[in-house]
Amino acid sequence: AYRNHPVHVHVHDKHLDFNSVQELPDSYAWAPLDEYPSGDSFSAESVPVIDLTDPNAMKLVGHACKTWGAFQVTNHGIDTSLLDDIEWAGRSLFSLPVQQKLKAARSPDGMSGYGLARISSFFSKLMWSEGFTIVGSPLEHARQLWPNDHSKFCDVVEEYEKEMKTLATRLMWLMLGSLGISKEDIKWAGPKGEFKGACAAVQLNSYPACPDPDRAMGLAAHTDSTLLTILYQNSTSGLQVLREGTGWVTVPPIPGALVINIGDLLHILSNGSYPSVLHRAMVNRTKHRLSIAYLYGPPNSVHISPLSKLVDPSHPPLYRPITWSEYLGTKAKHFNKALSSVRLCA
Ligand code: SIN
Ligand code: FE2
Repeated sequence: AYRNHPVHVHVHDKHLDFNSVQELPDSYAWAPLDEYPSGDSFSAESVPVIDLTDPNAMKLVGHACKTWGAFQVTNHGIDTSLLDDIEWAGRSLFSLPVQQKLKAARSPDGMSGYGLARISSFFSKLMWSEGFTIVGSPLEHARQLWPNDHSKFCDVVEEYEKEMKTLATRLMWLMLGSLGISKEDIKWAGPKGEFKGACAAVQLNSYPACPDPDRAMGLAAHTDSTLLTILYQNSTSGLQVLREGTGWVTVPPIPGALVINIGDLLHILSNGSYPSVLHRAMVNRTKHRLSIAYLYGPPNSVHISPLSKLVDPSHPPLYRPITWSEYLGTKAKHFNKALSSVRLCA
């Protein structure tokens, strides 16, 4: 009955109770959305789908990284049941009442917790989404959300972090290998190439069904500030990547597949060979969409700079050395212009 009242917008400190909204509030209306030719993004060619057990996987990955900055992988070694579990974890979290979720709110200068998309401050309009970031152990926030009953959530997140780390390492070597880089070329990878001190975060994203999807934005266009990102999306489409000359291209959900994005730090490491892909998330009129991003980066002490093997007189280093946290600071200041702000003068 309550939901049939005309317009009840409940905003808690800019946190919208999406289920109570029947008309898009002006603060969420982004239209016109697109300066690019839109066309039918489903019929357009989309990012490559690569079977990781293919003997040619390294070459295919390298080509996808150069031409798209993104691809999907199948036969990646992550059990479907773990993907189902992490989807369950996301659903359980986002279906809590807003007031409960706000008990685990991300503090203004904090990394983890519940809140608006971190990139929100760069836009005057609000995004039709909510997010939850986990750095390391989920225990502290899980306790705030479910005081008596958080062990399954924590177990699932920890298992997910462990499995994603293994996959990220494998992907790093496929990407780097196709550039001719081997374990000896990266000291911080360690003797076995396991990238031991690598840092990571799990980002859960929820995009509720939206009464006016053509004017709303789930997550505005951005590149990731990572080395690479592994994204799981449920069966509702919404992710789009920008392709030069084509425009926004939908990355269709494939059951059991994972989307891989090149982030800004791999762009730097590859001395510009691999573009970090600009992407965004659209919303749906009837279906709730969920995505889980595993954000993978270097240890905090490491300065990322173009690999010396990729630098010679005709390919001078394009970027100055920078740590992940320095880069995040630059990103917080310049957002999508962050890469050009660390570029060396040619
Ligand atoms: C992200 O860019 O972090 C998420 C994109 C998506 O939800 O598909
Ligand atoms: Fe992203």
